[in-house]
Amino acid sequence: MAIRVTEQGRNFYLETLHSMYQIKADEYGVLKHIWYGSRTECDMEYLLDYPDLGFSGNIYEAENKRDYSLDTMPLEYSCKGIGDHRIPAAAITHPNGSDALDLRFDGYEIKKGKYVISGLPAVYADEDEAETLEIYLKDTSSDIRVILKYGVLEKKDIITRSAVFCNMGDAPCKITKAFSLCLDIPHGDWDWVHFHGRHIMERLVERRSLFHGVQESSSNRGTSSHQQNPSVLLCSNDCTETSGECIGALLVYSGSFQTKIELTQLNQVRMLMGINSECFSWELKPNEQFSTPEVILSYSDSGMETLSHNFHNVIRNNICRGEYKQSERPVLINNWEATYFDFNEERLENIAKEASKLGVDMFVMDDGWFGKRDSDTSGLGDWFVNEEKLKGGLNTLVEKVKSYGMKFGIWFEPEMVSEDSELYRTHPEWAIQIPNRKPTRSRYQLVLDMTRQDVRDYLFKVISDVLSSADISYVKWDMNRSICDWYSAELPVENMGEMQHRYVLGLYELLDRLTSEFPHILFEGCSGGGGRFDAGILYYCPQIWCSDDTDAYERTKIQYGTSFFYPISTIGSHVSIVPNHQTGRITPFETRAVTAMSGSFGYELDLNTLSEEEKNAVIEQNKRFKKYGPLIHNGRYYRLSNPMTDKFAIWSFVSENSGEVLVHGMIFRTEPNMTRYSVKLRGLISNKKYVVDGDNTIYTGKALMEGGILLPKPWGDFFPIELHLKEV
Ligand code: DGJ
Repeated sequence: MAIRVTEQGRNFYLETLHSMYQIKADEYGVLKHIWYGSRTECDMEYLLDYPDLGFSGNIYEAENKRDYSLDTMPLEYSCKGIGDHRIPAAAITHPNGSDALDLRFDGYEIKKGKYVISGLPAVYADEDEAETLEIYLKDTSSDIRVILKYGVLEKKDIITRSAVFCNMGDAPCKITKAFSLCLDIPHGDWDWVHFHGRHIMERLVERRSLFHGVQESSSNRGTSSHQQNPSVLLCSNDCTETSGECIGALLVYSGSFQTKIELTQLNQVRMLMGINSECFSWELKPNEQFSTPEVILSYSDSGMETLSHNFHNVIRNNICRGEYKQSERPVLINNWEATYFDFNEERLENIAKEASKLGVDMFVMDDGWFGKRDSDTSGLGDWFVNEEKLKGGLNTLVEKVKSYGMKFGIWFEPEMVSEDSELYRTHPEWAIQIPNRKPTRSRYQLVLDMTRQDVRDYLFKVISDVLSSADISYVKWDMNRSICDWYSAELPVENMGEMQHRYVLGLYELLDRLTSEFPHILFEGCSGGGGRFDAGILYYCPQIWCSDDTDAYERTKIQYGTSFFYPISTIGSHVSIVPNHQTGRITPFETRAVTAMSGSFGYELDLNTLSEEEKNAVIEQNKRFKKYGPLIHNGRYYRLSNPMTDKFAIWSFVSENSGEVLVHGMIFRTEPNMTRYSVKLRGLISNKKYVVDGDNTIYTGKALMEGGILLPKPWGDFFPIELHLKEV
């Protein structure tokens, strides 16, 4: 049993293989957070110590117990307005204008299997894989109830959380904060690791000691964003890849989010994660419920690597869905960097034809095939084929590509509209803009109001028409701006604060309809590269274009950061031309291939422009990806260096039984007269014996892990590394 209850149903233990989460309802019905850490097989309440602290008030029933304060004790779900002056997870404005919420324990239920959240993506699991705990809370002075839901995936070391707000009264109220996670940690010295960046440079790792006060990583862009990612790690100060304590939290959400961490006056930590409360309010009418998105939690006492493995495992098996969930992804060639908007059917056919000869599986036609779309100034929204560009229409091109033995994929940017488009001329009211205020343009485009059913129905129809008109195997779902000017004529004025969340719900509804209607199509998410790289999108699209930066050197940092939470199979990654279009940098062809193979592999160039030698290299690379793909996507991933600080970026994939290892990466700069670098491998079995392909030397696992393996002598900068080891 993953969920254990003692003390007449007031003391809850959620137990996974290596972690324990403890919650207790005390004599006043206050729900306290007791512990999230390793499995101690002990009631951890003895660790909680309550000082009589000036200016930390006491609940009324506690009478003269001056050391009983909501302001100092670890709480499971903190609320505004009742004497806990730390950051609150929940706040509600009642009909009388007050905003206090005092939630007390009102029972619980344990269910087999994992709860679902209607309209939102969430971890799914078989009945025998998960258990659900629901804790019922009710406000002391209103008819608001909150259900805290916990999903426990014992063998995967995963706990999920979500909260449901219910209005059992007869007057509406307004939720102004509804975080998915509130985690109080009363002891320890913790560092905060988050993933920041910008367009063409996403998910850079930043680690900082916590300071007193509130620190935050968030997005108010309507998307999870390039700038911050809805994922966070709290690590003990001494935590490394392989040792020390850490807690990871990942929000399954694709809109504006907030992660807030407070280091309090008592050096306790409170972490909140959920919908960005500055972009949110929600009217809760009588008998209605509101569910927060889900947070996925994992704890490790053996460093960040274990945590990454836990998240990779749960995302790959319990978030990603559909036919491509486990199967190897096609190697694709995308024409974006090859042609940008400048193509016709002949140019595309030539790219596809050459790619087919070199072993590529699928041709993807990117932006520019529809409406009047010769630049990014026009055409978005007009999802019908531009037959001046593609003579003979879409089906003719698709059939031609298929005749080369390749599958066909296509690009859409469904959520957008250009002012210079038929759609905008017909339905200007469908674009998000505030009456009497000029909208902000970004890449010349406006955003469609995805909260509207008519907009979603239109998009479903036009996209379905295209997808049914030819044999299409893949869709790239792009989204190329941040959203502002939030206003919808469909929403009552006083409920405009609902719009951002309703946009995300609308997006999920459309994605759900389309992916259900076309189950054989592989959907890849994209937002100017990795601007919406999150677990919410991965529920519908098992891979996401990681970044518009295809420079192999930069990619080592981007993919390094991405790997902390997201499995390699989800990371869309392509080989492109040099000098690189984003940086002007020249890296060897093989280096670009090795870097792109750490993902869902493909090419983004016109292979006709390559030399014969390079074309032969493409054939070889494709063969290697077909051979190593299962290990890359199903194996355990190890970050063997830190590309932000080390002289090389090296990572590895190890098969489940540790009998096969692939070491990939690059040495950044070559220095003359230097000894070769060695790198310690991980995840091997000490007494197994291994050989490297093409070499007879026999190494023990212990030698490779404690002594390391020598990397080849580099020649030139960004020197590629590929070592394949097998057990003998
Ligand atoms: C942004 C994407 O990330 C690119 O790969 C490409 O699809 C362009 N949009 C097309 O406009």
